[in-house]
Amino acid sequence: MIIITSRLDKTPPRRSLTKLFGAHFWPHKNWFIAGTLFAVITALSAVGYAVVLVFVGNTLQCQMQGGVGDACDQVLEMTRGTGLDTANAWVWLGIFSIIALTAARALSMYAMTMFNNTGVQRGLVSVQSVQFDALTDGDFARVAGDSSGGFVSRFINDVNAIRDAALRFANNFTKSLVTVIGVLIYLFALDWQLALIILVVYPLALGPVIALGNSIRGRAKKAQQQIGEVTALVSEGLQSARVVKAYGLETYQKDRARIGFAERSRLFLRVLSQRAAVDPILEIVGGIAIAALLGFVSFRIAAGTNTLGDLLGIIGLIGVASPEVRALGSITAVAQEGAAAADRVYDIVGAPPSVTDAPDAISMDRANGALTFDDVSFSYPDGTAALHGLSFEVSAGETVAIVGPSGAGKSTVFNLLLRLYDPISGRVSVDGHDIKSLNANSLRGATALVSQDTALFDDTIGANIALGRLGAEQAAIEAAAVAANADEFIREMPGGYDAEAGELGRNLSGGQRQRVALARAILRNAPILLLDEATSALDAESEAKVQAALADFAKDRTTLIIAHRLSTVRAADRIVVLDAGQAVESGTHEALKDLDGVYKRLVEAQLN
Ligand SMILES: Nc1ncnc2c1ncn2[C@@H]1O[C@H](COP(=O)(O)OP(=O)(O)OP(=O)(O)O)[C@@H](O)[C@H]1O
Ligand SMILES: [Mg+2]
Repeated sequence: MIIITSRLDKTPPRRSLTKLFGAHFWPHKNWFIAGTLFAVITALSAVGYAVVLVFVGNTLQCQMQGGVGDACDQVLEMTRGTGLDTANAWVWLGIFSIIALTAARALSMYAMTMFNNTGVQRGLVSVQSVQFDALTDGDFARVAGDSSGGFVSRFINDVNAIRDAALRFANNFTKSLVTVIGVLIYLFALDWQLALIILVVYPLALGPVIALGNSIRGRAKKAQQQIGEVTALVSEGLQSARVVKAYGLETYQKDRARIGFAERSRLFLRVLSQRAAVDPILEIVGGIAIAALLGFVSFRIAAGTNTLGDLLGIIGLIGVASPEVRALGSITAVAQEGAAAADRVYDIVGAPPSVTDAPDAISMDRANGALTFDDVSFSYPDGTAALHGLSFEVSAGETVAIVGPSGAGKSTVFNLLLRLYDPISGRVSVDGHDIKSLNANSLRGATALVSQDTALFDDTIGANIALGRLGAEQAAIEAAAVAANADEFIREMPGGYDAEAGELGRNLSGGQRQRVALARAILRNAPILLLDEATSALDAESEAKVQAALADFAKDRTTLIIAHRLSTVRAADRIVVLDAGQAVESGTHEALKDLDGVYKRLVEAQLN
């Protein structure tokens, strides 16, 4: 499911876009300034092109009329002082000017595109980094509660929408605006009455175009959200390929995907149905304007008020200006799509994390590892209650096993200890400090976790272990692997420590993954060791080896072991039994197995 944050839906249109541009694109303004400069050159060469057309047209008319008349006067005026005096030379001049102007326009357009794209790409790097930082630094609950596909989509699709908006703006806005203004000025100089007609007709088109742009934003936002769902669907389908095959779920999966794709194209077409209307509207208005002008000018040529040059020039000018007006008109639509994406960026970047360091947070140098849960209650963000007034204590250096039925809240205890979530009531303390008063990094630095779902990264096995302590030497990495009884199998793999673990460690067996994760935790050498079913996938012999090593390693640190297996639990100094989010029993294996309680039941169930 994709979280739909309502907070930013209330942001006024385009506010988040301007904010985004200010924060991430403005720092690269030099590229855009250079791009804008070339945009102006591009625009001016287009206007110059129309000027030359007028000149050539007038030259031709002048020749046709035997060298006398208005057209000749205009040509003479335009060439005064150039030393050109034959009609032939004037035509050649016109031809070469057109080549020179189009060449200038082509080159400056290329430069404009390159400069603006460079600026935009740099801005996007910054947007993506900030998004990723916010996800990495932000609440664990946020990432845990949403599909990863939704987030992946933000990095690809939203960024594409922002890129399009930024490029359209950087490339087209100045070029179009300068071209249109230049054309208007020249038109006014040529014939102010004509210019007025154009000025009146065109703006009529902009009203509906802007209205369309506004409604595109809502649709675009929805479409982008749904792209996230499709991304999730595809990545989930590929990740669970084994289950899909084993359970014969191909048809089910394919149907689900097809529905997602169909919905995707429906939403896309919904956006397009509006976006695609923009150009035709402008086209119609443009056609009407051209028809009106042609009628007007032909009438005036017949009356001798306008020349053939004027007509050619005006057609040229309109040819140059029309696409630019169209681009200006559709810029609001593109900006709205960009704004929808920017909104989604700020959904992530703007969300304040709820688990934060207090301003006067204490940094622990080296924790002793005394742990206390004091009447702690906790529910997950989706409302699932997990702990109900849980209380227990662990002294520094003690090894305590946490046992209890599945769903009792054991892993949740670790989640709270690491401060991935804050309890709803009660207090979790380390060495007498409420962990809310501790600097979260120093708290997490004091712990080494092997979680129930051993996640490895798509890197070498050696690198995966080294994540326990970044920068650890190879010897330390290998020593940790030996302690976790992993060294042997790693050496047997092709490539040894440099063998690739694969995505989520899928090149390794379940038990091998666990031992690599254990080696990582051992390498961390933290005062508090948290093992959540860390040896559940090992065979008895291998587990015994790991346990012997761990017993040694655990001597001078606090160790919490969540386990179902008796052999793992028995070795602990003490056992805390959890049931339905509460600690119901506590004591040694010997003491608890004689109580007629939850532990006895768990033990008996395993022995039988
Ligand atoms: N991320 C989560 N979001 C919502 N509810 C959760 C989440 N994680 C766990 N829960 C719920 O909290 C309760 C306690 O879960 P927890 O993972 O702590 O159980 P556990 O004792 O570790 O079980 P197991 O032995 O199966 O690992 C369960 O009801 C579970 O459904
Ligand atoms: Mg668990």
